[in-house]
Amino acid sequence: MKNLANGRFFSTYGAVSRHRELKSHRLRLRPLEITDGERITEFMGERAVTKFLLYFTYPINPEQVRAWLQSVLSLQPEQCAYWAIVDQKEDLLIGIASLTLDGPNQKGEIGYWMDKAYWGKGLMTEAIWRVIHYSFDELKLHRLDLTHMVENIASQRVAEKLGFQLEGCWREGHYKDGTFRDVKIYGMLAVDYLRMKKRFGEMA
Ligand SMILES: CC(C)(COP(=O)(O)OP(=O)(O)OC[C@H]1O[C@@H](n2cnc3c(N)ncnc32)[C@H](O)[C@@H]1OP(=O)(O)O)[C@@H](O)C(=O)NCCC(=O)NCCS
Repeated sequence: MKNLANGRFFSTYGAVSRHRELKSHRLRLRPLEITDGERITEFMGERAVTKFLLYFTYPINPEQVRAWLQSVLSLQPEQCAYWAIVDQKEDLLIGIASLTLDGPNQKGEIGYWMDKAYWGKGLMTEAIWRVIHYSFDELKLHRLDLTHMVENIASQRVAEKLGFQLEGCWREGHYKDGTFRDVKIYGMLAVDYLRMKKRFGEMA
């Protein structure tokens, strides 16, 4: 039995050399590239996009985004996946989805954000459902984690619509813009996913 410790993550539950492109009804999730920096800087210039993000503080500049891109692209597939969410019709990068992996515990943590111009159309729910589908059906994970600051109602709705179970709250668990924020914590087990799959279908 091999695991992260001997460098062969996922060999017990599906080998991964590079995370693949995913497609849903309206979206394409392709691996992030260093050349995506300009477009990401553009839509992260909107204060509302960074309001609840831990690693970005308004105002954003291109150097910050480039440094962030370089750091996430240097990570190995067994550590995480970062996808550019592309609107298929416009062929435009409109958001980011991430899956940070914890090999020994066979779980991953979901992260996401999107260009404000595309909010409220169900697009992030669609994108993350596709990542969930990949996580359980292909990577064979046992569990997914998702967290958000309590004030982030849009993220709460995404978690609820996808069928994540609220498991508790980290009191003052995140430090953002000079304040400690309470954080809601959610989980989805492989068995929860199977229940949701009946309702959502493959959505691809
Ligand atoms: C969170 C985010 C990705 C959601 O993207 P989205 O594509 O608009 O999500 P969806 O359209 O799939 O779902 C959003 C839901 O939140 C609801 N919503 C949004 N703002 C709301 C508010 N202030 N009060 C109540 N509901 C709200 C929408 O109505 C929708 O629910 P519905 O389908 O039941 O009507 C987007 O708001 C965003 O990028 N926020 C900034 C970054 C961020 O917070 N990332 C998450 C960090 S944990």
